[in-house]
Amino acid sequence: MTETPPGQTVTRPSAWTRAATDGLSRSDNTVSPIIYPPEESIDPDLHLWDTWFLRTRDGSIAEIDGYRVILALTSSSDLLPGKRHDVATIRYFYSSDGRNWETGGEIFADASGSIEGEQPFGSRQWAGSALYDNGTVYAYYTASGERGEDELTYTQRLAVGYGGTIDTSDERLEITGPWTHTIMLEPDGDRYETQAQSRGMIYTFRDPWFFEDAGETYLLFEANTPVPEGSPHCDDDTEAQQFNGSVGIAHSPSGDPTEFELHDPLLDAVCVNQELERPHIVVKDGTYYLFISSHMHTFAPGIAGYDALYGFASDSLFGPYEPLNESGLVLTNPENAPFQSYSWLVYDHGDELLVNSFFNYFDFDRPSLDDVALLSESEQMRRFGGAPAPTIRLAVDEYATKITGVLAHGHLPLPTEPLPESPFSGRDRDRRDGYLS
Ligand code: FRU
Repeated sequence: MTETPPGQTVTRPSAWTRAATDGLSRSDNTVSPIIYPPEESIDPDLHLWDTWFLRTRDGSIAEIDGYRVILALTSSSDLLPGKRHDVATIRYFYSSDGRNWETGGEIFADASGSIEGEQPFGSRQWAGSALYDNGTVYAYYTASGERGEDELTYTQRLAVGYGGTIDTSDERLEITGPWTHTIMLEPDGDRYETQAQSRGMIYTFRDPWFFEDAGETYLLFEANTPVPEGSPHCDDDTEAQQFNGSVGIAHSPSGDPTEFELHDPLLDAVCVNQELERPHIVVKDGTYYLFISSHMHTFAPGIAGYDALYGFASDSLFGPYEPLNESGLVLTNPENAPFQSYSWLVYDHGDELLVNSFFNYFDFDRPSLDDVALLSESEQMRRFGGAPAPTIRLAVDEYATKITGVLAHGHLPLPTEPLPESPFSGRDRDRRDGYLS
């Protein structure tokens, strides 16, 4: 066991239980409005999905000479959307108003797409987070598979590329290397399942999210809790035992943002759900709000969940965490468009929380996301958003949340920028009148 970080009492892991998920059901407080395609795409050449801000150590959104920066998983928009995870590349985008975004380019490559110096780990890079500290960019990512592999593998390791610097002019912002890459963490097989131990559907050890609290430096990530055959969990139900998602945490004793040690998970969902994706925390009025994204099809048999943003709260970083709104459900898609958005990221905006996500499959209400494969290729292309979704406004009152409005697609205001008084803005304004009681 590693030491508990200073000043922390351990009450973990908290559990997302089957009893809590009994209460999962859509309500006016948790269902987002239907999404229509944006008038203009952020970059027609790209599919864009999981997105995150460049931030400073204290979690503030970095402001660099008037620009804010987001990083996102991307692929060519010529690609069949279901194939995009196999070639995911992290690109950055910048904006001076939070509405209009310019494509900066591949984070680890130069303008021509070539990489000088060290190559990133993995045969492709999955989601992460990004820190701007002392003039240096730290781009955290999931190294998925092995660099140079002929056949795709699904190993996942938590990596960081660092050493990037930022130049700006009136017209543009540019992030350039050379980058140094390091693998920070791999599963230990004890607190965190290795791929070899996995009995379940989709193995996970990914999505590193940098976070500081009370002067201590942490990394949150998505993982699985080892549940060996013969475990007593959920009354020996061997099928349900294969669903064992967790939210992992690692600590950097020195504060070095590239060196972390594993700790016990903050939360797990053994016998409940396999994938607790992109975990992140927002601290508000002394309460720690832990958010994850998950899919309908990753709940254990017998649990009817949704593709949704789920949340948990605690008055300490290490828990115990209780599900928000009793079941954990914070924000989901409407019943007639159940897969319209995914991969939610919540950030603080003073009185409210704002939630970014990407526009996923629309005009599609089959029972499972897997059924996308039943569509013709041209329909798979037509019905995939692959762009930022409208930003959702969320009110939070202790352990309860409520959707209160929506901003335009990809509108990501800084906490210092006022929000419109009308709950619905942009293209959605007229359609949304009266949507909220
Ligand atoms: C969520 C996710 C992440 C992963 C990425 C891969 O949308 O599953 O957990 O990093 O997609 O594309």
